[in-house]
Amino acid sequence: MKGIILAGGAGSRLYPLTQVASKQLQPVYDKPMVYYPLTVLIASGIREFCLISTPQDIPRFQQLLGDGKRWGISIEYREQARPEGIAQAFLIAESFIGSDPVTLILGDNLFFGGDAFPRAVADFKSGATIFAYHVNDPERYGVVEFDAEGHVMSLEEKPKVPRGNYAVPGVYLYDNDVVAIARELKPSDRGELEITDVNKEYLRRGTLRVQRLSRGTAWLDAGTSSSLHEASAYVQTIEKRQGVKLGCPEEAALHRKFLSRDQFESVVSAMPECEYSSYLRSVIEQSHWLPQGRPE
Ligand code: DAU
Repeated sequence: MKGIILAGGAGSRLYPLTQVASKQLQPVYDKPMVYYPLTVLIASGIREFCLISTPQDIPRFQQLLGDGKRWGISIEYREQARPEGIAQAFLIAESFIGSDPVTLILGDNLFFGGDAFPRAVADFKSGATIFAYHVNDPERYGVVEFDAEGHVMSLEEKPKVPRGNYAVPGVYLYDNDVVAIARELKPSDRGELEITDVNKEYLRRGTLRVQRLSRGTAWLDAGTSSSLHEASAYVQTIEKRQGVKLGCPEEAALHRKFLSRDQFESVVSAMPECEYSSYLRSVIEQSHWLPQGRPE
C-alpha cells in the first residue's frame, strides 16, 4: 500500500497566515499540521509516500520532511499547479502509484485515537474503503447515507439537505483502478475533480466499503482560524494530561519497526535540546516495556 498526502490548495481561509507557508505547515500546538496525517499513515504501516502541494510550497515541505529516511520511509514530491480537485492527486501521482493500491489522506485532516486505519490497511484487498463519521454539520462534507441495515444508499458532496449525519473524512483506501477512474472524471460545477465522484464509481461497481468510525476516534479539520485553534487546544489537552505526544512520526516509526532502536536514538541525538527531543528520549527509556501497540 502506498500513501499520498495531499497538502496543496489555496489556503485562503487562513489568510494572512498562509502568505508565507501553506495551511498544512502551520502549527497544531507543538508540531506542523502535516506531521499528524503523516503519523496516521506511518502508524498504519505505510512506508512509501508521495506528498502533493503547490509549486511554491513543495520546497518548504522538502525542507521539513526531506526524503523520509529519518523515519525509515521514503517521500517523493509532486506539484499540483492549481487546486483542481482532490481526485487529481491520482493523476499527478500516477507514476508513483504504479500498480499498487494507495491510501490518500488530506493534509488538514487530523485523527486521534482508535485503530481503524491500521486495521483497514491491513485488511484491504480490493475496491475502496472509506470511512463515515457522525457530525453536527454534514452539509460541509461529503455525506454518506445508510439504510436501516447499514447499507450505503448514496454519496453526495456538500448537499444542501444532507441525508443523515455521516460525513466522509479525508482518508481513502483504493485499489489500483482508482487511476483509471480518476482519468474518466469530469470537473464538477465548482471546477474540481471530486473525490466523492471517485467513491460513487466504486459504489456503482459494488466494491465500496464504508466503515463507521467509533466515538473513540476524534476527527478534526483545521481549515479555519477557529478550527485550527481548537485542534491545537485538543492536542495540548491530551498531551498535558497523558504525558504522551500525538502526531509524532518518530514514535510511530519506532513502534512499526521502520526504525531500529539504534536508528531512533541517532535520529533523536541529531535534534536540538527541546521538549520534543526530551519526549522522544523518554520514549526510548520506556520502549522496553511498551506493548507492541500503536501510538497515535
Ligand atoms: O475534510 C473532508 C472533506 O474534504 C470531504 O468530506 C469532502 O468530500 C471532500 O470534498 C473535501 O472537502 P472540501 O472540498 O471542503 O476540501 P478542501 O477543498 O478544503 O480540500 C481539502 C484539503 O485538500 C485541503 O487541505 C486542501 C487540499 N487540496 C484541495 C483541493 C481541492 C489540494 O491540495 N488540492 C486541491 O485541488
